[in-house]
Amino acid sequence: MQIKTILLTGANGEIGRGLITHLSDLADVRIIALDLHAIEEPLRSRCYRTATGDILDAGLLESLSAAYDFDSIYHLAALLSTKSERQPTLAHRVNVDGTLNLLEMAMGQSRLQGREIKFLYPSSIAVYGLPSLEIKAAAGAVPEDSHLKPRTMYGINKLYCEELGRYYSSYYRQLDAQPPKGRVDFRGLRFPGLISAATVPTGGTSDFAPEILHHAAQKEPYACFVREDTRIPFMAMPDAIKALLELEAAPRENLTRQVYNIGAFNPSAGEVVSIVHAAFPAVETSFSPDLRRQSIVDSWPQDVDDRAARSDWGWKASYDLNRAFSEYLIPGVVRRYRQPRAS
Ligand code: SER
Repeated sequence: MQIKTILLTGANGEIGRGLITHLSDLADVRIIALDLHAIEEPLRSRCYRTATGDILDAGLLESLSAAYDFDSIYHLAALLSTKSERQPTLAHRVNVDGTLNLLEMAMGQSRLQGREIKFLYPSSIAVYGLPSLEIKAAAGAVPEDSHLKPRTMYGINKLYCEELGRYYSSYYRQLDAQPPKGRVDFRGLRFPGLISAATVPTGGTSDFAPEILHHAAQKEPYACFVREDTRIPFMAMPDAIKALLELEAAPRENLTRQVYNIGAFNPSAGEVVSIVHAAFPAVETSFSPDLRRQSIVDSWPQDVDDRAARSDWGWKASYDLNRAFSEYLIPGVVRRYRQPRAS
């Protein structure tokens, strides 16, 4: 059996945890997991090797690259949008310089191994910037190439890194007399807000939906930081993992784009509260908009047009709104808080 070696950055993050749990069940995969903080059990024993360190540490990346031949890199490490507004220069370093380091590493690996290295990149609906609520409502499901005027450091970082990915795939060192030997096969997904039953995100601006759910499950009151009518796309975590794995597996010749929108459901904040309250009726959720965070969410589309992902690699979410809550999120949080464990 051919064993695939996968480098995963941001391993302790929400997507990283889900991806490790899924990939480690496959017999033909070994995971090299990197995170700024030590990767604890039970995740640790699911990895072939874990490394603690910074994606800005070129020496660390070099030593990993010298030790392993990677087939694919899942570069998940990032500072999310709210955190990035609080520390914009740190965000730029981690989100942009960190990604550049990983792309260079992928190119170096490709040269040495004499084959393409797949680079899976989670981008975000934060790359969009709708100038007003009227234009947001009129725009409906936004296609990949419209309204690319992000307002946040995070969105700007993600959009720029999508372009860096295109450069490393198609134009790297284009003036060299001999075309460079390596090639990075960059594949990006623009994720909606993600909701997991197992973890609560930190530092994002779409965090209000998972926070409504996780507070209710713990019987804690919650003041939602956006208006009741706020509407952006969301997705259940298993679908986010599925999308990454399906995009990685898609035959290259079927892909017409470097970066794809993917959609699942797009409830208003009020609808999320209603669904959650139906399961946890005793709990109190109020709306107390933080006008600054609200204006970020208002600049994100209310829906995304994911026709390219559907036709190129067969994207279809398994969880619509009802199924996400009734079969995954509600039972998942009930189990999670019945048996407390590290998030
Ligand atoms: N979930 C991200 C954030 O809120 C957006 O992709 O920053």
